[in-house]
Amino acid sequence: MDLTLTERQMLKGEYGPSTRKAMEILVALGTIYQAEKMIPVSSVQVSGVSYDNLGEAGLEFLSEMASGGGKARVLTTLNPAGMDIENQASLGISQEFARQQQRVIDAFGRMGIVTTCTCTPYLTGNLPHFGEHIAWAESSAVCYANSVLGARTNREGGPSALAAALTGRTPAYGLHLSENRRPGLTVRVQAELGDTYQFGALGLLIGRQIEMRKLNRVVYIRGITQTSLENLKSFCASLATYGGAALFHMENITPEATLFEPPAEVVALGQADIEAASRSLNDDTAGEIDFVSLGCPHLSIHEIARVAELLHGKKVKKTFWITTARPTRQIADRMGYTAIIEEAGAVIAADTCCVVAPIQGRFHTLATDSAKACYYAYGKNKIRTRFMSFDEVIYEALK
Ligand code: F3S
Repeated sequence: MDLTLTERQMLKGEYGPSTRKAMEILVALGTIYQAEKMIPVSSVQVSGVSYDNLGEAGLEFLSEMASGGGKARVLTTLNPAGMDIENQASLGISQEFARQQQRVIDAFGRMGIVTTCTCTPYLTGNLPHFGEHIAWAESSAVCYANSVLGARTNREGGPSALAAALTGRTPAYGLHLSENRRPGLTVRVQAELGDTYQFGALGLLIGRQIEMRKLNRVVYIRGITQTSLENLKSFCASLATYGGAALFHMENITPEATLFEPPAEVVALGQADIEAASRSLNDDTAGEIDFVSLGCPHLSIHEIARVAELLHGKKVKKTFWITTARPTRQIADRMGYTAIIEEAGAVIAADTCCVVAPIQGRFHTLATDSAKACYYAYGKNKIRTRFMSFDEVIYEALK
């Protein structure tokens, strides 16, 4: 790779051992993907934050990087942790887990990383603009950043995102290069989609098409006439989970769609396909619902307002977690939504989610509007899932 003087100095250790380690990671990655050079990034989002996923080995790596003088050179935020950092007791998280999780957060903090833990950094101030090169790790956020914002990022792993934070660079390959952002398949949607769960089902369907074809994971979607930030974040989470996609173009909706002609190969998806996909996310072996959660990806303030509206003056009868970013929760506090939700007996939790929290063995069946949560709930926490609309999830909590 063609490295600049500063990059070579980083590699030699002249900026300290952590920066050297970070540059070694990036050079190894760039060599694998035949990158010719590094490019500067202006924003980073690091995954691998929950102690439940990291374990002792991951914590040790982070502690070493912090002790070795590593400092973030660009705005860097974190993916969700395994608990609400300011109130772990509200979610029934053990003190032992909380201690270890706090050590993880402290290590990131010592490296100058903003310890806002969210999979929707674009809602809380880590908001890149069109064409900006960034290094993000959370798959749903990567898909949102590339597609909806028109920023440029590969799907980083935890270590490579941290390395980008400590050096302010990433290897120039993959979706940083214009030629790799070209779509390979047109998907024509002939269905009325209005709710987050329907966009999640669409993500599942398109994801399956991508998996079947394998070659180009960028799709060009036609036929969607109306959407919202919330629908797009749900779609991104599902498309990334089921199709491994990090970029799509949506005609008249996403900024790069105008740059390309729709590819000749076309797949049509109709209302019946969406409904069948929704049904397929309902686990037939699921028992009675004992856990209800909204917030995968983390809820927007608009969604929290809807939860408060439907819970106002009522009492939930099941464990109900509403997960979001801390800055969004702070807005909810100020607007009085948190008080309404807590008065109803639900929990509004910041920094975490129903997938990355350590909840194995506590619940049997989850009600969710998230296609992504359906994918991970059983795989990670052995929890079966019922898939339904946003409002139906709230009604389920009240039953
Ligand atoms: Fe976010 Fe957790 Fe879902 S990290 S996308 S809420 S699995």
